Amino acid sequence: MSATDTLSDALADLEAMLAAGRAAFEGSPTPEALEARRVEFLGQKHGRVRAAQERLKALDAAAKRVYGQQFNAAKAELEATFETAKARLQRRTTDTTALDVTLPGIPTRLGHRHPLTQTADELIDLFGRFGFAVARGPEVEDTYHNFDALNIPPTHPARDPLDNFYLAVGGGPTGAAQAGHCMLRSQTSTVQIRVMTAQAPPVRVIAIGRVYRPDTVDATHSFMFHQVEGLMVDRGVTMADLKSVLRLFAQSYLGQDVRIRFRPSFFPFTEPSVEVDMLWHGGVRWVEMGGAGMVDPNVLRAVGYDPEEVTGFAFGLGIERLCMRRHGIDDIRLLYQNDVRFLRQF
Ligand code: PHE
Repeated sequence: MSATDTLSDALADLEAMLAAGRAAFEGSPTPEALEARRVEFLGQKHGRVRAAQERLKALDAAAKRVYGQQFNAAKAELEATFETAKARLQRRTTDTTALDVTLPGIPTRLGHRHPLTQTADELIDLFGRFGFAVARGPEVEDTYHNFDALNIPPTHPARDPLDNFYLAVGGGPTGAAQAGHCMLRSQTSTVQIRVMTAQAPPVRVIAIGRVYRPDTVDATHSFMFHQVEGLMVDRGVTMADLKSVLRLFAQSYLGQDVRIRFRPSFFPFTEPSVEVDMLWHGGVRWVEMGGAGMVDPNVLRAVGYDPEEVTGFAFGLGIERLCMRRHGIDDIRLLYQNDVRFLRQF
């Protein structure tokens, strides 16, 4: 066997060993498998690289030079391939922040408005189209706006401390400093007085907000709820206008098939006074939505309007009621618990 044959054999074996080692390192699925292959190829005593190095001894000087160079290159490449494979497996086992771009994304859930806020916004929108502006008043009120100016005399049972949240310390928004003169408003009718005191007729406003009454909480009662108050004062405003506006509102908000009904009632600040009932979806039960009536001349006088010149109507509807009827909610408490599983449905 000539020296040349031995060299070409040795080079061919070296080439094969290099290919096998490369495939073994790159194909190792676990650090354990890679370590076994490292011993097989790069092991100090019995490794295949070590054996390839041994081949040098049998070669003549010229062949040694050629083979030696190839051997060094092959060894360096295998060592590098091993390090790369090792780093790849380490990353897979320890780097939990590695991003797998093939996983489906987690959609971001958009927040939205609370059903009561939605109802309030819809009311503002609807009445806005009927020409009603939005008015506001404070939730901490004085008894003048909550009672006196609304023609509720000092001895009236509506003032009973058991039916109202009076505040022990005075200092309300109008400066009423006397204890017992301040309270959490029990009705949004207070805003009627604030609006009429601030401006001359004609008036066409709604006021939406919280009111407070010490009711025992159950499926239809809460110590705090929301009202939408409406007030229209002008020359020649009649009960027919009140009925038209409320019917138009009911049909716009609840559907064309809605019917409304007025039942005679009493409020100190309206005369005549009515309770407003609504019936819809061909329902058999009339549902009370709130109170209404023609603004009492005493109220007009209290704010400096002339009852001989102008007349007006007012109404106060419960927003929770409207919201619950529209969405089929059967317990008012659901509206205040803020359970996202409930809120998500609207
Ligand atoms: N304020 C009355 C209530 O809370 C409702 C109402 C408003 C009645 C306006 C007549 C006119 O019960």
